Amino acid sequence: MLLCVTHKRIYRDANGGSRLAEYCVETRDLRREYLNRNFFGKVKSRTNALSGLNISIKYGELFGIIGPNGAGKTTTIKILSTLLLPTSGSAFVLGMDVTHDLYRIRKRIGIVFGGERGLYNRVTGLQNLLYFSDLYGVPPSVSRKRVPELIEMVGLTGRENERVEKYSRGMKQRLHIARALVHDPELMFLDEPTIGLDPAGARDIRGIIKQLKKDGKSILLTTHYMFEADELCERIAVISKGNLVALDRPSGLKKQVRDITLVELHVYGDSRAVSSSISELPSVSRVFSEDSGDRTIIRIQTPDGSEVLEKAKVIASQNNVRIIESSIKEPTLEDAYLRMVEE
Ligand SMILES: Nc1ncnc2c1ncn2[C@@H]1O[C@H](COP(=O)(O)OP(=O)(O)O)[C@@H](O)[C@H]1O
Ligand SMILES: [Mg+2]
Repeated sequence: MLLCVTHKRIYRDANGGSRLAEYCVETRDLRREYLNRNFFGKVKSRTNALSGLNISIKYGELFGIIGPNGAGKTTTIKILSTLLLPTSGSAFVLGMDVTHDLYRIRKRIGIVFGGERGLYNRVTGLQNLLYFSDLYGVPPSVSRKRVPELIEMVGLTGRENERVEKYSRGMKQRLHIARALVHDPELMFLDEPTIGLDPAGARDIRGIIKQLKKDGKSILLTTHYMFEADELCERIAVISKGNLVALDRPSGLKKQVRDITLVELHVYGDSRAVSSSISELPSVSRVFSEDSGDRTIIRIQTPDGSEVLEKAKVIASQNNVRIIESSIKEPTLEDAYLRMVEE
């Protein structure tokens, strides 16, 4: 069925025609609404979890979706992995329609959700992997070789004969990844795979994700950590409240906010008048104030850090407010992200 590789694949469609697919995932105006019902089943409100998402992921790409809680990341992954139907719009996975080709898609994707569920705790890691291999119809001659390789790859060699209930949270998550690979899928969906792990456990998972990419898997990763997306992903979609707010390479996202510098002032005294005068300066885009012990921290977003700092000093002295500390910070990707999702 597969006629050519090189990141473009031709598929036979149901009518015997062929379709050229450059992307392993393509969504068009994808929407999903949840109906929230009361005790009697009457719809009391609706949540627009996705409001028209358009993304395309290339074969072999490690693509990230980042957004705060409730942004619509899990909803997107559930639709793409055929666990949830869209309300409208379309989504194609490996050239197949998520609303029609459920079983054909499921055979060729691997899914990892953050959290504890989905493994059998009373049996060993090895038994879990053999069981799931069987469930996916992998011939025993193949799984006998593949399962030890997966155990090695996720760093569980030597622990595979222990019951899963004895595993740490990080080991369970590594076993989850191995479980998602038993049928050698070409596309992986990883939904916040490092959530709830300690820093060392999260670093191990990031190492495994890099290995998957090297092995040629296409990967869609969701996270709410910008540094993680920056470290791993070739392109990042930033979503907020079901809407795409940016889509670019990490370097491109940084460029979008290169002109937004953050001036930080630590002051004593009543700073409300100072904050409000600073916010009226023409080149200032935003001012945030935060009380911190005996001082107030005023953060000013502006494309023109040094000029605004000089003007802020004059304003402070006019209002008898003492500046104890001041600094000018260039924006990080995290700042870029926060600004995008806040707006
Ligand atoms: N089963 C559900 N019923 C009602 N609302 C839901 C359901 N699942 C998710 N939502 C809502 O949809 C929005 C998106 O959720 P989700 O896709 O889980 O976001 P994320 O994974 O980015 O945190 C949120 O507002 C969430 O409360
Ligand atoms: Mg989620």
